[in-house]
Amino acid sequence: RQIKLENTRVDKDGHKHFMAKEIAEQPVAVDTALKAYLDENDAITLPDGLDFTQIERLSLVACGTAYYACMVAKYWFETIARLPVEVDVASEFRYREPPVSPGTLALFVSQSGETADTLAALLYMRDKADVIAGLVNVPESSIARESDVVLPIHAGPEISVASTKAFTCQLTVLLLLAIKAAKAKGLPLPEGMPDDLHALPGLIHQSLASEAQIAAACRDLANARDIIFLGRGALYPLALEGALKLKELSYIHAEGYASGELKHGPIALIDESVPVIVMAPKDALFEKTISNMQEVMARGGRVVLITDADGAREAADGTADVITLPKVPDTLAPILYAIPAQQIAYFTAIAKGTDVDQPRNLAKSVTVE
Ligand code: G6P
Repeated sequence: RQIKLENTRVDKDGHKHFMAKEIAEQPVAVDTALKAYLDENDAITLPDGLDFTQIERLSLVACGTAYYACMVAKYWFETIARLPVEVDVASEFRYREPPVSPGTLALFVSQSGETADTLAALLYMRDKADVIAGLVNVPESSIARESDVVLPIHAGPEISVASTKAFTCQLTVLLLLAIKAAKAKGLPLPEGMPDDLHALPGLIHQSLASEAQIAAACRDLANARDIIFLGRGALYPLALEGALKLKELSYIHAEGYASGELKHGPIALIDESVPVIVMAPKDALFEKTISNMQEVMARGGRVVLITDADGAREAADGTADVITLPKVPDTLAPILYAIPAQQIAYFTAIAKGTDVDQPRNLAKSVTVE
């Protein structure tokens, strides 16, 4: 299926691949998404029809990378706005026949807006949810047309099959929604919010500079047969996203786990041949994740630690590689840690010589169930 880009010519802009271009575009894409929803007083403006004073719970549904954006959003909506959230992969949603309570916002997240499973899940929710919203990159898509409320993510055309800038823009808009919901309920916002949001494009720009460090680490990763990603809290979905991206692009078997779950099975896989990528900003959960990381190292596992300067100072000993990102407010960490997750997949694929923009067996937009 061809990607229709009405009257838009998209080229690689001097980059070797669309994926490299789209990774590099993220500071601007995220800034555009922020500006589309924040007015000059940092008030969040939403389209008519979405009133969080009327919403009591959320049902988030999506596929692939968009699904992991929803998993992160669950942490935000629950911690910041105290709204209960259910998250489903679209292909399974209907089989559960979920009972839908009054006050439900059903939110469907899709870059293309054409994913058949997500659209089918949306149609299932028609007449059940109070409000149906589509969070999409293509505002004239089927999912947008079928939604009561359309929330564009403003990422611009995304050509590479593996989603990058759409993911960070989805996260940005989902975070704005969680903040809006908290305000509607009169709840205090996390420290620094919403002001810190303005630092996000600059932080993404800075973290792109870890490229050379990551490319070097990936020359080793490319030889692995299996790779494990670990994260805790809102970084757990990032571990899943890192593993998904890596298997999509490099065809290396990769799994993401919640760090605390390691001891309940996956630790049996660890030996010197299995690299473990640990995503651990120096936050309230850091010590626990690092103790999981040390369990890996005690079994000979080769650790690549992604953290900030404080985290590196404390926990770099014994790791194979450390990728240092800028210090980031806790709430924004899942957005920032998407960058190394994408770069690891990109540079491992380059080292293996696979087709970065068109991985085998995958399509950008899957229009069959
Ligand atoms: C395909 C793509 C993935 C994408 C998923 C959902 O599987 O290869 O990169 O995350 O579809 O796509 P959507 O357009 O609904 O976000």
